[in-house]
Amino acid sequence: MNLKTNAMYSVPKLEDYSPDGLERARNEFLSALDTDVLNATTEEEWKAARDRWMSRKSGLLSQINDTWLKSSPPEHRRNTGQLVNELKEIVTGQFSQTPDAILGRTKNQALAAERLDISLPGIQRAIGVKHPVLRVMDEIVAVFKAMGYSVGEGPEVETDYYNFESLNFPPNHPARDTQDTLFIAGQERKPARERLLLRTHTSPVQIRTMEKQAPPLRIVIPGKVHRNDPLDATHSPLFHQVEGLAVDTNITFCDLKGTLDHAMKALFGSSVKTRFYPSFFPFTEPSADMQVSCIFCGGKGCRTCKFSGWIELLGCGMVDPNVFEFVKDNGYDSSKISGFAFGMGVERIALLKYGVEGIQLFYEGDVRFLEQFS
Ligand code: PHE
Repeated sequence: MNLKTNAMYSVPKLEDYSPDGLERARNEFLSALDTDVLNATTEEEWKAARDRWMSRKSGLLSQINDTWLKSSPPEHRRNTGQLVNELKEIVTGQFSQTPDAILGRTKNQALAAERLDISLPGIQRAIGVKHPVLRVMDEIVAVFKAMGYSVGEGPEVETDYYNFESLNFPPNHPARDTQDTLFIAGQERKPARERLLLRTHTSPVQIRTMEKQAPPLRIVIPGKVHRNDPLDATHSPLFHQVEGLAVDTNITFCDLKGTLDHAMKALFGSSVKTRFYPSFFPFTEPSADMQVSCIFCGGKGCRTCKFSGWIELLGCGMVDPNVFEFVKDNGYDSSKISGFAFGMGVERIALLKYGVEGIQLFYEGDVRFLEQFS
């Protein structure tokens, strides 16, 4: 019998219970044990071997008890019992501890896994890119900077005064309903104009800027705004705007049109056309919605422009004299100066510019989407 390949070892039936026969059975059993123990080189193999030998139900030890001892002739029972006991002790002793060699080997394997091979190529970490919304916002700002505008910012948590009142939204004016938002809780004791809310547009920064800076003034204000708008393909309760304000002597609606027409050509390409539709904002008079000729069909009519050839893009108008009233002490005398203002949604422009299908793609943070802008 080839004792080295003992995977096949199974407990034989004993025919010969003589001392010689028992001796032979003992030797075969022990050399199979030796081979199994030597072959176990990992902790798992060691445990598997232990089960094979010691498992209570079907281990080889239980088997010699059943096949050798229980069926031994009475006259050999004593010797057989002694042998089985001896083997039990040897096997138990053998498996009482995981040998140092195996433990050492697993430790070495762990160390080997940690070893650093400095000749391997390094891990490439992707460098982030500017988020498409930020990128478009910066692009818009750059277009106006090139026309001599400065850049300003204002707080995202605003007072009712700046967000509504000073922009000529009187308390309870219905135009407030279109810009419903989150108010900070527990402010009932404050006068209405001091109550804090998440700003619904960047227009409050118009007043904040005019309070600080006398005319003439040309400024763009990028920023984050909030509205009680349920999320759909084109609306999000949080979005971004770029506000613009120009105040000087003799500013006219023509200046507004020329400025925005130039900006749209800079953003969408020189073939884009603009047109101005009457609209209403409490803080501009007259007010307009500016539309651009559809960038997808060039004005022929398609699904995106609802077959009108035009896409509504921003609100604008001439600054209402009532607004200048709030800052008249800083040189804003509506009999001497005039101005225009506009506000555009950045996501809306980004959606059009890149043909993105839903606004939510901008906020989900899916790298596969964002990577396309690198
Ligand atoms: N603030 C307006 C809005 O968010 C847009 C706007 C800005 C309109 C400036 C006119 C002038 O809807």
